[in-house]
Amino acid sequence: MPRRMRRIAPAPGGGPDTLRLEEAPVPRPEPGEILVRVAYAGVNRPDVLQRAGRYPPPPDASPVLGLEVAGRVEALGPGCRRYAPGDGVCALVAGGGYAEYCRVAEAHALPVPEGLDLAEAAALPETHFTVWAMLFGQGRLRPGETLLVHGGTSGIGLAALDLAHAQGVGVAVSVGSEAKARVCLARGARLAVVREREDFVAALRAAGMIPDVVLDIGGGEATASNLEVLARDGRLVQVGTLAGAYGTIPLGTVLAKRLTIVGSTMRGRTREEKTLLARDLEERVWPLYARGLRPLLAATFPLARAGDAHRLMESGAHIGKILLAVEADPGV
Ligand SMILES: NC(=O)c1ccc[n+]([C@@H]2O[C@H](COP(=O)([O-])OP(=O)(O)OC[C@H]3O[C@@H](n4cnc5c(N)ncnc54)[C@H](OP(=O)(O)O)[C@@H]3O)[C@@H](O)[C@H]2O)c1
Repeated sequence: MPRRMRRIAPAPGGGPDTLRLEEAPVPRPEPGEILVRVAYAGVNRPDVLQRAGRYPPPPDASPVLGLEVAGRVEALGPGCRRYAPGDGVCALVAGGGYAEYCRVAEAHALPVPEGLDLAEAAALPETHFTVWAMLFGQGRLRPGETLLVHGGTSGIGLAALDLAHAQGVGVAVSVGSEAKARVCLARGARLAVVREREDFVAALRAAGMIPDVVLDIGGGEATASNLEVLARDGRLVQVGTLAGAYGTIPLGTVLAKRLTIVGSTMRGRTREEKTLLARDLEERVWPLYARGLRPLLAATFPLARAGDAHRLMESGAHIGKILLAVEADPGV
């Protein structure tokens, strides 16, 4: 194993230009951890927020960006038994993904789903842990219910659409363009509302789709409408605040319709919670990929161009996941 590696230097809090390659020691796996030679790292909006200094990493996490990786197991820390060196895995991490080697809690690593390659596998962990925990856990979404997903082609939005559609949920989405609407309809959404053109509350009511759950990454001004459009006993699942951290809550509506508002962050969850989520995903979601589901990839940049990957994400033009290729894909 080499002693030095390339990684993106911890972001000092600035624009995409601050993302630069540096050399650093290869990390050593602690007890219960494996060391992964990273093939691909997923790029997520929380990385952009962290880079800009608006989402600081927890004190015990690597200051290096990157919340998900896929690659091959390079070494095992004490007590690790599940994987062997050379195995292909993907994993959720609290940081450190934008690097050639990454320490991973063995319990937060999953096998590459049957039928997917390492690039596709790198696109799954952050959004899938989040959507599974928030939409199906806190949001109690059940087959036969109706779901509204705002930002249908975001990483979070596509994971929510794919997993909910596969569970027999009727899904409506809101998106920023016709092209994004077409992609969501092709992946199983029953209704796609272009937010700038149409009021989503009126569009859903006209279509007879009254959501039991709204998954929102925006917040801000949409909050009141999200609550107004929900069905009786509806749940608002707040995953992000891209449009603003403050909104109006019509309390009369909350009372009259017995509504619930929930939120959380994945990174703040305990090691044990993430372990349980990993088991659930492997058992209940990974088989969907073996049956032919594939994540939608928007673009892949070499690690050295992490700044360009962030620029694309900030433009909002991407449809699907953005990845960093850390080494040439050695196959699964
Ligand atoms: N709570 C957690 O644990 C957790 C975990 C991961 C991510 N997140 C959050 O989830 C959000 C999405 O992350 P991501 O990585 O999936 O981002 P992403 O792939 O970059 O998607 C962002 C997309 O959201 C859409 N959008 C922007 N403003 C919006 C608004 N006001 N309402 C609805 N859609 C809007 C845009 O597409 P349009 O053209 O459709 O507007 C944009 O392209 C971020 O806020 C992120 O911080 C939370």
